[in-house]
Amino acid sequence: MIKKLKQSLLAAALAALCGHTHAADVEVLHWWTSGGEAKALAELTKKLEANGHRWRDFSVTGGGGDNAMLLLKTRVVSGYPPMAAQIKGPEIRDWAEDGLLADIGDIAKAGNWDATLPTVVANAMKYEGRYVAAPVNVHRVNWMWINPEVLKKAGVEPPASWDALIASAENIRKAGFIPIAHGGQPWQDFTLFESVALGVGGADFYRKAFVTLDPATLQSATMTKVLDTFKSLRKLIDAGANNREWSAATALVINGKAAVQFMGDWAKGEFARAGKQPGRDYLCLAAPGSDKAYTYNIDSFAFFRQRQDDARKAQADLANALMGAEFQENFNLAKGSIPARTNARMDRFDDCAKRSAEAFRATAQSGGLVPSIAHRMAAPEAVQSAMQAVVSSFFNDPAMNSREAQTRLVQAVSANAPQR
Ligand code: GAL
Repeated sequence: MIKKLKQSLLAAALAALCGHTHAADVEVLHWWTSGGEAKALAELTKKLEANGHRWRDFSVTGGGGDNAMLLLKTRVVSGYPPMAAQIKGPEIRDWAEDGLLADIGDIAKAGNWDATLPTVVANAMKYEGRYVAAPVNVHRVNWMWINPEVLKKAGVEPPASWDALIASAENIRKAGFIPIAHGGQPWQDFTLFESVALGVGGADFYRKAFVTLDPATLQSATMTKVLDTFKSLRKLIDAGANNREWSAATALVINGKAAVQFMGDWAKGEFARAGKQPGRDYLCLAAPGSDKAYTYNIDSFAFFRQRQDDARKAQADLANALMGAEFQENFNLAKGSIPARTNARMDRFDDCAKRSAEAFRATAQSGGLVPSIAHRMAAPEAVQSAMQAVVSSFFNDPAMNSREAQTRLVQAVSANAPQR
């Protein structure tokens, strides 16, 4: 629907493209508003300002980017796209297909991006073989963030399986803590769900369900087990979770109120910001059962076509800044992720980041590397959001059982997937 609306207003949008942009104004849409995210973003604004540009912040609160993407559409259809926007995964191709994105192939060629980026990252940035987006990082989503003090006080070991976590919930609660720190927002429900799917079903199952979108896999007994396990976790969440931001949930782990959080490693940006050390104040472990797998989430920026030379120059500076080795190092130290560039220096990074880099390499070889569905990397946008809605309703509606959720997941795919 939104896509149709977008298309019908495409001509108007193109006609109005950026006649209004001041030479040195770089307006960038993003959703990095938490403490750790803002600290990471400051590295970028610093860089751009050092190049003589003026940063015009277009930030939209709401983790996961659902709000930001809605607002982006509104801006584009009214004829005022920003200069660049945080756009990820298959959506990069959608925007390029609509003819709205600038081809930055020459910048990429001059910077030797093909040789500098892992294939999986480079491919996600291209449309018809040409770069239309620049990556800054790789986030691992299938992490479990633990407060070891809380587990100790509850007399509980770090959970090796989802069932072990469910079984220990009673003890964690009795000791006065929340078992799982969570924010009741659809994208956070979906983030937890994909880690359960990966841990219970494994990488091949995950790929068939969320990349191939295979109806038989969505209806399989394994998916029933995934959904049953996922639903059992609902009881491990506190009553205050409703609509809580993800960073507030991370704060519950940081401040010793909750035992664990399942979240991508942008959560580490919050621990770092609070001065916490991994291994001492908190632990990063792969979500139960998913040690040999890796759900990747690449943050990237796409550039809206510009008419004026100075605006194009500013875009080139932005693209080069995003791919700078030193920038990626500083940015990712604050963000919790690892640089998108291969062979990045990792000596200033903590143990969690080093393990992420190692697992990223190893799983690319083993077949355990899969795109995050909750973070818009795996499926077309319409499918992703329809599946997210099903998963979130299922999680929060005590009356919906796993079989019904499976039927709805299959419908979410068949009603929204492009014809193949
Ligand atoms: C993800 C994004 C991350 C992160 C998170 C929470 O989708 O890729 O960079 O910050 O949302 O806002």
